[in-house]
Amino acid sequence: MDLKEIRAEALKKLNDLHAKSERDLSATKSHLFGKSGVLTALMRSLKDLPPDQKPQAGKEINDLRIELMSKCDEKEKELHRLVIEEAIRSQELDLSIDVPLHSVGSVHPLNRVKNLLTDYFVGNGYIVYDSPEIETDYYNFQALNVPQDHPARDMQDTFFITDNILLRTQTSSGQVRLMEKYKPPLKMICPGRVYRNDDDSTHSPVFHQMEGLVIDKNVTLCDLKGALDGFAKFIFGESTSVRFRPSYFPFTEPSVEVDVSCFNCHGKGCRVCKNTGWIEILGAGMVNRKVFENCGIDPDEYRGFAFGMGLDRITMILCAINDIKLIWENDVRFLHMFK
Ligand code: DAH
Repeated sequence: MDLKEIRAEALKKLNDLHAKSERDLSATKSHLFGKSGVLTALMRSLKDLPPDQKPQAGKEINDLRIELMSKCDEKEKELHRLVIEEAIRSQELDLSIDVPLHSVGSVHPLNRVKNLLTDYFVGNGYIVYDSPEIETDYYNFQALNVPQDHPARDMQDTFFITDNILLRTQTSSGQVRLMEKYKPPLKMICPGRVYRNDDDSTHSPVFHQMEGLVIDKNVTLCDLKGALDGFAKFIFGESTSVRFRPSYFPFTEPSVEVDVSCFNCHGKGCRVCKNTGWIEILGAGMVNRKVFENCGIDPDEYRGFAFGMGLDRITMILCAINDIKLIWENDVRFLHMFK
C-alpha cells in the first residue's frame, strides 16, 4: 500500500465515525500507529531502502503520521462532544406534558370589603388607627362609660384573660387610645378583630369591626347622618337611603341604630332584608361627655360622633353568605367563588 492509499483509507474511516463509534476510532488508531500498524511497518521498512531515498521517504511517512494523528485527535474531541449532546438530548424535559396547574390565589372577600371601606374613609380624610386586640378592662369598658357591674357589660360576652385583661369585645377601645394620644380635631377609623363568647350561624367568637370617630368643635348628629349616608351610597349604591332608630350605647348620647334601605328589593321586602325593606348595618351616636372627660378632652369645647360596624356582617350581606363560618373555614371552593 502506498502513502496515498493509506491516507485516503484512513480519512474515509475517520469520516464514517459517529457518536457511538469511539471503539472504531481506537481500532483505526492502532491500525495506523499500533505496533503492527501500517505506518509503523512503513517506518520499519525504511531501513531496506537505498540510502539516497531514505530521507525523502522518511519525511513523507512522518508528515502523514503527524497529519493523521491530528485528524484522530480532532475526531476524538468531536465524538466526545457528540456523546455529551446525545446525553443532554435524552434527558430533555417534555414541556408539552399535561399537568394540573397551580391555582392562583385571590383577596379574601372579607379583606376586599375591609379594603373597600378603608379606601372610602381614607378618601374622606380619616386616618387608619391600629389598636391592640388584647386589652385592659379600662380601655374596653371603663373609659367608654361602662364601669364594673354596669348592666351594659351583659351586651357583650367577654373572654377574660385575667380579672383586668381581656380580648377586646369592640374596636371602640381604639377611640380611647386615639383620644389619649392625639389632640382634636380628629377623624379616624379603626378596623380589626374582636372577640366574644358567642357562636351560631350569624355569630362567631372571632369577628371584625370597623370603628369610626370624628371630633371637632361643631360636630352634630346631622354630620353623622351625612357621613353615613355617603358611606351607604358608596357601598350599596346611589339609590340607598339611611334610617336612624333610637338606641342605647353607654359611650354615645344620643345613640342610634343605623339601617340602610335594602339594595336587593329597594324597600319592597325580600329575603335579604327579611321582608322589612331595611338592613341594619351599624351602631352610632354622639360621643358621650363622660367619654370625653375620661380621655382628657373638654366636652364643652368639642363634640364628636362615633360609629361601629361589623365587617363580617357587611361581607355576608354584600356576598349573600348565609353562614359566618364560611368566612373563617377557608374552604378553597368557597373562596374561588369570589375571585
Ligand atoms: N361597639 C359597639 C358594639 O360592638 C358598636 C358601636 C356602637 C360603636 C355605637 C360605636 C358607637 O362607636 O357609637 O356593639
